[in-house]
Amino acid sequence: MTRAPGEYRLYSDLAGWWSLISPPAQYSADAAALTQVFDSAAVDVREVLDLGSGGGHIAAHLKERLALTLVDRSAEMLAVSRGINPECEHVRGDMRTVRLGRAFDAVLVHDAIDYITCQDDLRQVIGTAFAHCRPGGIAVFVPDYTAETFLSGSGRGGSTDTDGRQGSFREWIWDPDPADDWVQAEYEFVLRAPDGTVQVVREAHRLGAFSRDVWLRTLADAGFDPDPRSAARSPAEQRAGAEQRAGAEQRTGAEQRADVRMPANLFVGHRPAEAERDAASSPASI
Ligand SMILES: C[S@@+](CC[C@H](N)C(=O)[O-])C[C@H]1O[C@@H](n2cnc3c(N)ncnc32)[C@H](O)[C@@H]1O
Repeated sequence: MTRAPGEYRLYSDLAGWWSLISPPAQYSADAAALTQVFDSAAVDVREVLDLGSGGGHIAAHLKERLALTLVDRSAEMLAVSRGINPECEHVRGDMRTVRLGRAFDAVLVHDAIDYITCQDDLRQVIGTAFAHCRPGGIAVFVPDYTAETFLSGSGRGGSTDTDGRQGSFREWIWDPDPADDWVQAEYEFVLRAPDGTVQVVREAHRLGAFSRDVWLRTLADAGFDPDPRSAARSPAEQRAGAEQRAGAEQRTGAEQRADVRMPANLFVGHRPAEAERDAASSPASI
């Protein structure tokens, strides 16, 4: 079967294994951090658009407090998400081009932004976020990799369900050409059905790794004010931050809240409120 570039088996015929390969519990730390980031918006964040919502695992942790609209281009992943998030609105669409004709307090593009691998597409996705972000609202992007902090390496994960289904993966990530904006993940999925039959699937994914400058410039070009907390942290910087936090003995409530672990790479844009925008675009008066 032929697939369009950037479309993968993991999100089509293997989508039913998603919750075993990447269990919802693993998204709770990012969800806690995102809740804090949403709290920094000029508007009270209640309605959120999640672009590339996948199996709805991040949404599952956010939906108690927020009204979520979930967009993904994969019908199979939307079906998985509907199973765990029946109360959320689901829409099939491409995050580069979808236009829902309404605005949200916040637009989130979590790890799905990894599947944007060239600057033209990044511009389009950030344009989609701007088009759906209410004045005073916030757009939040959480890429796994950036050009400055990328390190090649390997990883693994997976889980088992109560029916005895087991889904696990190994991955090797490397950068075929540091001069471009993407890296490559080589995956091996081992999928065991309750009757003991096992399938092993190998698949290479191309994942974006833009520089911090590209992120900040593209956010600003779209009309967002990039948030100074936008960050790309190397694994060593992340470890140092965690040790520093663990060493703090007397902590105020604010410091404890700061203990929420922010994702390593986080890019945040604020859409100026109308008044600020009008002031910025009108000629200076004397
Ligand atoms: C890693 S999964 C997202 C997981 C999700 N954060 C969750 O909570 O389950 C990546 C998703 O991005 C989607 N995706 C990739 N490119 C897309 C695009 N251009 N527009 C919309 N969805 C896209 C895939 O279909 C897939 O469901």
